[in-house]
Amino acid sequence: MSISILGAGTWGTALSILLANKGREVILWSKLENEIKALEENRGFIKNLPGAVLPDSVKLTTDAEYACKTSEPELIVFAVASPFVRSTAQLVSGYIRDKQIIVNVAKGIEESTLDTLLDIIKEEIPQADAAVLSGPSHAEEVSRLIPTTVVVAAHSRSTAEYLQDAFMTDRFRVYTSNDIIGVELGGSLKNVIALAAGMSDGLGFGDNTKAALMTRGLAEINRLGIAMGAKPETLSGLSGIGDLFVTCTSHHSRNWNAGNLIGKGRSVEEALKEVNQVVEGVYCAKAALKLAHKYYVEMPIVEQVNKILFENKPVDEAVNELFMREKRPEHNLINW
Ligand SMILES: NC(=O)c1ccc[n+]([C@@H]2O[C@H](COP(=O)([O-])OP(=O)(O)OC[C@H]3O[C@@H](n4cnc5c(N)ncnc54)[C@H](O)[C@@H]3O)[C@@H](O)[C@H]2O)c1
Repeated sequence: MSISILGAGTWGTALSILLANKGREVILWSKLENEIKALEENRGFIKNLPGAVLPDSVKLTTDAEYACKTSEPELIVFAVASPFVRSTAQLVSGYIRDKQIIVNVAKGIEESTLDTLLDIIKEEIPQADAAVLSGPSHAEEVSRLIPTTVVVAAHSRSTAEYLQDAFMTDRFRVYTSNDIIGVELGGSLKNVIALAAGMSDGLGFGDNTKAALMTRGLAEINRLGIAMGAKPETLSGLSGIGDLFVTCTSHHSRNWNAGNLIGKGRSVEEALKEVNQVVEGVYCAKAALKLAHKYYVEMPIVEQVNKILFENKPVDEAVNELFMREKRPEHNLINW
């Protein structure tokens, strides 16, 4: 039986290469006709995936009913960018059978509802068995078989292990977890910190600053994550520290790139135009701040990123404000 991947962007295409090279029958769907046409015309020169080749066995389609129903997929992978998860789930819901395993690989939180992406899929496709796959996994590297590790979180051990088997190769190691909220939050919130890390690099700050942002950013992710039910171990794992590290230090990251351009003096609009891909940290920044208020947790880096993005605050002023906050111990566990 086949695997259908919804979303033929950078990540959906890289996963279709991984799964096809594993001998699986893969159907790659996109709502965007031009995306499918470009892949059809040139399987050996894929936008954003230099050096990768889309195997001939991967079937390309814009027909959602074929991808989700007629082809009787064993597994459906949601790989559309986070702002399109709800509309895609609504589009395909009527084609999805009872207990269909769906794994979401996108990262984000819906700003208007504060739903995670799995909340959305469960709401729109209640008959499905929905899971999440996340971790430090640049598509550019996965498509070139560079060793990568990720984590899959599901409601049942059998679904988690099924997904582990479905994706695992000798270059793509998959761990399992039952901490869905932890895996989702780790993967989403790190994008906001990556924007800040990019801004820091764009300003010409150094390794010390980036280490500070990553460490204190992780403290913020932990505070919110734990308030929302995530396990601290998950946030110290692949979908927490792992993804934070890769996104804040790699030039493949569109969030880092957008932040870097803002740090160099571009306006937010100019930076987003220049990156020319969905910069999910911008959407997630607002959602993260609303969640911080909802759960009464302090997220000063997230707060300053929001001010820079949405209130035209100069980046250096935001840095001053972060440094001149009230003095405090590093963490609350200190018992003098
Ligand atoms: N690129 C990576 O290295 C990587 C790795 C892990 C996870 N992810 C996550 O995967 C998700 C997709 O990332 P990407 O890099 O493929 O993004 P991308 O910008 O390359 O692709 C965007 C995707 O959204 C889809 N899309 C755009 N408009 C749409 C619409 N109106 N309706 C339905 N679908 C639409 C496109 O078909 C495409 O699949 C993101 O959430 C990202 O965080 C990406």
